[in-house]
Amino acid sequence: MAVLPALCVYTGTLLAAAAAAATSDPAGQTAAPEPPFQKPTVLLALLARNAAHTLPYFLHCLDQLHYPKSRLAIWVATDHNIDNTTALLREWLKNVKNLYHFVEWRPMEEPRSYPDEIGPKHWPNSRFTHVMKLRQAALRTAREKWADYVLFVDADNFLTNHQMLNLMIAENKTLVAPMLESQGLYSNFWGGITPLGYYKRTSDYVLIREWKTTGCFPVPMVHSTFLIDLRKEASAKLAFYPPHPDYSWTFDDIIVFAFSSRQAGIQMYICNKENYGYLSVPLKPHQTLQEDLENFIHVQTEAMIDRPALEPSRYVHVPPKQPNKMGFDEIFMINLKRRKDRRDRMLQSLYEMEIAITIVNAVDGKALNSSQLKALNIEMLPGYRDPYSGRELTRGEIGCFLSHHHVWKQVVDRRLEKSLLIEDDARFEPQFKRRLMKLMDDVEEEQLDWDLIYIGRKRMQVERPEKAVPNVMNLVESDYSYWTLGYAISLQGAHKLIAADAFSKMLPVDEFLPVMYNKHPVASYMEHFEPRDLKAFSAEPLLIYPTHYTGQPGYISDTETSTIWDNENVITDWDRTQSWKSRPQDEIHSDAQNKDALPPQTSLDPTTSRDEL
Ligand SMILES: *[C@@H]1O[C@H](CO)[C@@H](O)[C@H](O)[C@H]1NC(C)=O
Ligand SMILES: *[C@@H]1O[C@H](CO)[C@@H](O)[C@H](O)[C@H]1NC(C)=O
Ligand SMILES: *[C@@H]1O[C@H](CO)[C@@H](O)[C@H](O)[C@H]1NC(C)=O
Repeated sequence: MAVLPALCVYTGTLLAAAAAAATSDPAGQTAAPEPPFQKPTVLLALLARNAAHTLPYFLHCLDQLHYPKSRLAIWVATDHNIDNTTALLREWLKNVKNLYHFVEWRPMEEPRSYPDEIGPKHWPNSRFTHVMKLRQAALRTAREKWADYVLFVDADNFLTNHQMLNLMIAENKTLVAPMLESQGLYSNFWGGITPLGYYKRTSDYVLIREWKTTGCFPVPMVHSTFLIDLRKEASAKLAFYPPHPDYSWTFDDIIVFAFSSRQAGIQMYICNKENYGYLSVPLKPHQTLQEDLENFIHVQTEAMIDRPALEPSRYVHVPPKQPNKMGFDEIFMINLKRRKDRRDRMLQSLYEMEIAITIVNAVDGKALNSSQLKALNIEMLPGYRDPYSGRELTRGEIGCFLSHHHVWKQVVDRRLEKSLLIEDDARFEPQFKRRLMKLMDDVEEEQLDWDLIYIGRKRMQVERPEKAVPNVMNLVESDYSYWTLGYAISLQGAHKLIAADAFSKMLPVDEFLPVMYNKHPVASYMEHFEPRDLKAFSAEPLLIYPTHYTGQPGYISDTETSTIWDNENVITDWDRTQSWKSRPQDEIHSDAQNKDALPPQTSLDPTTSRDEL
């Protein structure tokens, strides 16, 4: 019986000796821990065409990637450009090439278009073939150089998450894409595919796209930005070109590649664990580069609503924009000094659209006190009650009224024939500038006698159609409306609003305007004002909307959450906007594919020639 304890003691001694041997060599030295691995090597494959306006921002995202540049190689191809894409890329590559492991540059200056394309955004089969060959050439280079990974990125994909590459590598998948956001529900993956290889919308798609479920999900298609792990055996079977011998689906580079992936037994994954960045919705074949630029500006200004603005790469020269007043004598933007966030976003958005404005410091309702109101002889309109809450006028609403009044006064004093006024929480519709200028031109052409033209408002009587203005497209006579988000005001209109002497019978400015054009439903409010002959119109469809609706993250009202007009101790936090819903997002389908047969091969082949910088 004495053996067992002895054995146990003996074993214990052996283990202790083994443990000691692991941490010190015979000389009694402690070994340093093994150093970590270097980062895997990645080849970034960039294909850019007619992308001069997006490139500086796109390249900035690459500049900012948190990844050792010595472990990255850059492969760039560009051709068939009618804009400055080649010069910009060359400039960037010259400036960054020493930072990266190596750079491969494949420009082709001529021809500047495909023979069978109807516009720079059209995808004839010759273009599909060319792009497939280019991607194949990039893949070949990555394999020849023994890169661990290859990352494909399109030039209109803005990878704003600096950790994107690390995060994708950490997923440990053979083929994985970061989900990119866009307008509507567009993104860089498909949830389903039909037996003939067409796009199929699935319920999972929406759940993933809207982050209702998060993770990395197997999907039949990813495109635009994706990472391939070349260390995986199966990746050797992937090809962009030529299409797989069994391929019979429509001729389109992304579908050809999805098929190749399927044949290689490689599952594509889309990840939405974080926000990784965004991309533009592809334009239609007949759209022009100017429209592409306007689309990009819209994507940019939309993104600024809840993200920092995109910046251009410091390795390329970006000519300064040239803002103008769109034909107005002045454009006023009303902003509360303490809302610097809104001011900055608006200034950046307007600069991107090349619109020059003058900032008007809003009267801060929160800072107004009773003695100031007395000094201004401000009295509330007798019997005024908020139509929803029944509350009285708030300080914020008075501040808002005074701010607008201040602008009307300037218009009159400076005799400005035609001005635009916008508040600082506007979001701009696509092609805002072009559409507003066209509208004002049409109004001018028709010699319409106008005082005020809403460009953003809340229509209150939606069941009753408004009267269209003859010969002016997209203009209606305004019926009862709320909000003063944005409107054009004529000198004559400003005169009328000032002459109404509203301080002694004040009501919210967005109720005052309908009174002045005689469309307010409450007759007892209207009888205090005479005449009520403001000639008010509205853009239809509207050109601006509020950035945030009540209840959405980021919504803070400056006018409606404040104190009752004559008593700073009564706080009102009622918000009459609380039932207003955000616009339903239009779904954008990406199932427009053509069904042509395989094309004749083109003779061009820059996929085999490279250039010195
Ligand atoms: C094209 O880009 C290059 C490099 O940034 C720049 O020097 C040149 O001025 C640009 N040309 C035009 C017409 O924008
Ligand atoms: C990555 O996946 C492979 C197989 O696909 C597996 O053997 C390996 O352990 C995984 N690595 C990590 C870090 O999860
Ligand atoms: C009201 O505000 C003005 C300006 O800030 C200030 O001078 C005045 O003392 C205030 N009056 C009262 C009663 O608080």
